Amino acid sequence: MNTVNDYLKSGAIDIAPLLSLVLEKSNTELYSQSDYALNNEQQRQLSSFIQQREQGVPFAYLSGNKGFYHLDFKVTKDTLIPRPETELLIDIALDLFPDKEEPCHLLDMGTGSGVIAITLADKNPHWKVSATDFSQAALDVAKTNATTHINFSQGSWFDAAPNQTFDLVISNPPYIEENDAYLDDLSYEPQTALVSGIDGLDDIRIIINNAPDHINKDGYLLLEHGFNQQEKIVSLLNTKFHNIKTFKDYNNNDRAVLAQIK
Ligand SMILES: C[S@@+](CC[C@H](N)C(=O)[O-])C[C@H]1O[C@@H](n2cnc3c(N)ncnc32)[C@H](O)[C@@H]1O
Repeated sequence: MNTVNDYLKSGAIDIAPLLSLVLEKSNTELYSQSDYALNNEQQRQLSSFIQQREQGVPFAYLSGNKGFYHLDFKVTKDTLIPRPETELLIDIALDLFPDKEEPCHLLDMGTGSGVIAITLADKNPHWKVSATDFSQAALDVAKTNATTHINFSQGSWFDAAPNQTFDLVISNPPYIEENDAYLDDLSYEPQTALVSGIDGLDDIRIIINNAPDHINKDGYLLLEHGFNQQEKIVSLLNTKFHNIKTFKDYNNNDRAVLAQIK
């Protein structure tokens, strides 16, 4: 077995995208040049990738990148792989400030590969955008992904932006329960990006409790959360926030909450 066609017929996991990756060919080129014979190095690299995919390593960690909204992002084992559900937060934020000239001071906390901050900054070059993460390694990746100027800083939640206030604070924080069996499927991604205590809400509680000190008059807090957490989060928000809006993702699961400071 050494031609593209041999491999395509093998039925190996993700074989077409893996061939594209190793041979640096588009899908169309792959099928139109299917009699191409892989050299020894290409075969060795492809076998290694197939083996890693069979062991559960996500494709994005092999390719080193992942598309999100209108951009492509570098990802490493230090960053969560951005999920399509998170694009919902971008749509909500863009709808919130439809006037392209309206200034917005945005904070994206737990930025990971930087997808939220960088996508919004790229769409709104006049916004003042800050992004933070507890992980310096993740921030280093986010910095390489930035397409415009972003203020990056390291630290736990609002500690990374002391004495600063914002018009919009967004976070896709860790929100999985520590005993959730689903975590077995996510073992290659940083657990610190995923897990948040016994009910998955430890980080969200910290963020909601501290947000009022960091949000400007009439400003907003926008959070991604787990499919079964919306009710609890709305009740946590009720004392200090109003105009609370809830959102479902494209799979019809409860996924985000937007709240305006009272
Ligand atoms: C679910 S990931 C989201 C990453 C990225 N924003 C995205 O949507 O793809 C959560 C992020 O929060 C960061 N994080 C975890 N604990 C934190 C803390 N105490 N303070 C700040 N960031 C934290 C993780 O390092 C991770 O990058």
